[in-house]
Amino acid sequence: MVKQVSLLTMKTIYDEKNLKGKTIFLRADLNSSLIEGRVVISPRIREHAKTIYLLSEEGAKTIVLSHQGRPGDHNFVSLDRHAKLIKKLIGKDVKFFKWDENYVEEIKKLKDGEILLLDNVRMQPEELENKTPEEHAKDKFIMELAPLGKMFVQDALSVCHRSQASVTGFASHMPSFVGPCLKKDLDALAKLKEVEDHKLVVLGGAKVEDSIPLLKCMLDQKMASQACVGGLFGELFLVAKGVKFGKKEAFFEEKGFMELIPKIKEILTSHGDKITLPVDLAILNGNGRRKKIKVGELPSEFDTFDIGWDTIELFKEKIKESEITIFNGPMGRYESSKFRLGTKKILECIAFNRTFSILGGGDTEKALKMIGLEPSDFDHVSLAGKALLQYLSGKKLPGLEVLESG
Ligand code: 3PG
Repeated sequence: MVKQVSLLTMKTIYDEKNLKGKTIFLRADLNSSLIEGRVVISPRIREHAKTIYLLSEEGAKTIVLSHQGRPGDHNFVSLDRHAKLIKKLIGKDVKFFKWDENYVEEIKKLKDGEILLLDNVRMQPEELENKTPEEHAKDKFIMELAPLGKMFVQDALSVCHRSQASVTGFASHMPSFVGPCLKKDLDALAKLKEVEDHKLVVLGGAKVEDSIPLLKCMLDQKMASQACVGGLFGELFLVAKGVKFGKKEAFFEEKGFMELIPKIKEILTSHGDKITLPVDLAILNGNGRRKKIKVGELPSEFDTFDIGWDTIELFKEKIKESEITIFNGPMGRYESSKFRLGTKKILECIAFNRTFSILGGGDTEKALKMIGLEPSDFDHVSLAGKALLQYLSGKKLPGLEVLESG
């Protein structure tokens, strides 16, 4: 395996010269949306399959651990289909074992290069118990598996914000490494520290509670020098500045968003000069048509669903001035063709402006598809959603904390 240059202080899998014959526990995140009740090949499955292929080619005995959904949810299903999909993708056999089968004996029998996927790790009751890494290290199934392994590889940033048994329990038992997918995420994010200025974050979407600490921390710690805020988040910034929305205010109240206004006001006080807000929005008028409304023309008897053309141009100017742009959260209700314009135009500008671009995970790929853009149009599309936000908010992620320094 070719050694890869890394800016990371943690040991990566590329630092390990000889993987032949070594039993590796690989924490992947195969968790994917079900389409008509079925798991289909998703970006996560595709990317982690590449890691699995790589380890197998190097002669490692790879035991893959992952979750899918949460107990009680419709998408909490077995990983048997994931095993078949990975097999199809990489053209290698992938053994699959359920937790009530004799998987320990099967692991002992693995030959060099063989791959075994264990069933949904959240079927182990200890997985989701709220415990520290030290406590998880003593969980029954971790104690049972750990003596069989030589290395732990964490490949998914998307699970690192959780102290769950399969995320933090192995590292105290064996040397632990950053896998290729996680490395890609961390390398892209390290760029933020390298570049001094011209770092823009474009935030939108409705997850305002997550976005408030994210934006505050990015501006406090100079991980971003400018911000453009659209979507529901942008509208709440306008409310914090005293704009009256009219009809939509009932929605803000009902969803508890008004309670967040004091926190938004704090951000405006300390960083108002760095934040660009919408100057116009799009409403659905009485005839069911998209219509632009200037912020100065509010309040309105209609709901707002997107940013308007003037705002698009304003945000595009900011993107053109930036060296790095991080995008997280749509500018409006992109699922509806009438209100896709803001998200589409902003993402197109980020993609084609040649700014170094990082897109936050979650449903980003779905949005890109609707808009007609490809993940390859951007420098980095993260597989992580909430964990990426927490990382960017400066929070320590337990799944990263347990990994060894190089
Ligand atoms: C995700 O989809 O973000 C990860 O798989 C983590 O899932 P969780 O939020 O259920 O822990």
